[in-house]
Amino acid sequence: MKIALVGYGKMGHMIEKCAKDAGHEVVATIDVMAKDATNIVPAGDGKAVADAVKNSGAEGVIEFSHPTAVLGNLNALIPLGLPVVVGTTGWAKSEDEIAELCKKTCGTAMRSSNFSIGVNMFYKIVEEAAKIMAEYSDYDVAVWEAHHNQKADSPSGTALEVARRIMLGNKSKTQMVFDAFHEKPKANELHVSSTRVGFVPGTHTVFFDSPADEIELTHRARSREGFAKGAVVALEKLAAKIASGELEKGRLYGMSDLF
Ligand SMILES: NC(=O)c1ccc[n+]([C@@H]2O[C@H](COP(=O)([O-])OP(=O)(O)OC[C@H]3O[C@@H](n4cnc5c(N)ncnc54)[C@H](O)[C@@H]3O)[C@@H](O)[C@H]2O)c1
Repeated sequence: MKIALVGYGKMGHMIEKCAKDAGHEVVATIDVMAKDATNIVPAGDGKAVADAVKNSGAEGVIEFSHPTAVLGNLNALIPLGLPVVVGTTGWAKSEDEIAELCKKTCGTAMRSSNFSIGVNMFYKIVEEAAKIMAEYSDYDVAVWEAHHNQKADSPSGTALEVARRIMLGNKSKTQMVFDAFHEKPKANELHVSSTRVGFVPGTHTVFFDSPADEIELTHRARSREGFAKGAVVALEKLAAKIASGELEKGRLYGMSDLF
């Protein structure tokens, strides 16, 4: 498959390697500043990004750029009609708007805040654990995550999804609170805290805490490779399912639609 990469930073480079290893051709690497990209575009110019993709002859796009850039890029990329896989985080509040754009332009996109298979299994384990622990009122629950100090958004998209799964399993938690909120948490509040330090690729921990003991569930990414491989597989699957008619165009899909 001919693939265009939008955003050629740490993830873009890793995805290029994984895509080539899987037998794909990377026909364009598009960035606002990366000197080794095939196309350097002005920041905030979604049209320039879309033109570069169109001129490359790409059959699919993988977007890993920046939370401040992703919406401009998607608004220009989705109307091209190619399958677009989005890994950039920090735009969860605009998902409805992008789903609407897919519908209006008959474009197809797929997003996940975490493409690693391990994390997607972790979501299921956490949801089930939250359900089991919710029966025992002695146990409180909280989420903590750590990432490298270059990460722009906080909490991570993965931590938000972990928290959402806890709230699905434990109906007494109805609201998330983040970082320093300078008061005692109320019983219905789920505390989600973040640390930014050094080079951590991504660690997420759920604590179930009682007066007698504590249960800790942790997912620790060892490298970015798991995310990059997952994004390439997601594009392969999205393109194949659209071609076979199993998935229809004009929708914004998630991990559970593909795997
Ligand atoms: N979904 C996942 O599994 C997953 C995994 C890791 C990282 N991420 C997310 O992916 C994003 C990128 O992460 P990274 O570690 O590669 O960051 P990075 O800072 O190394 O790279 C981002 C690149 O995007 C470029 N960029 C900025 N604005 C752009 C624009 N308008 N058009 C094109 N390129 C632009 C930057 O110049 C930079 O080279 C972040 O939002 C991060 O949280 C997601």
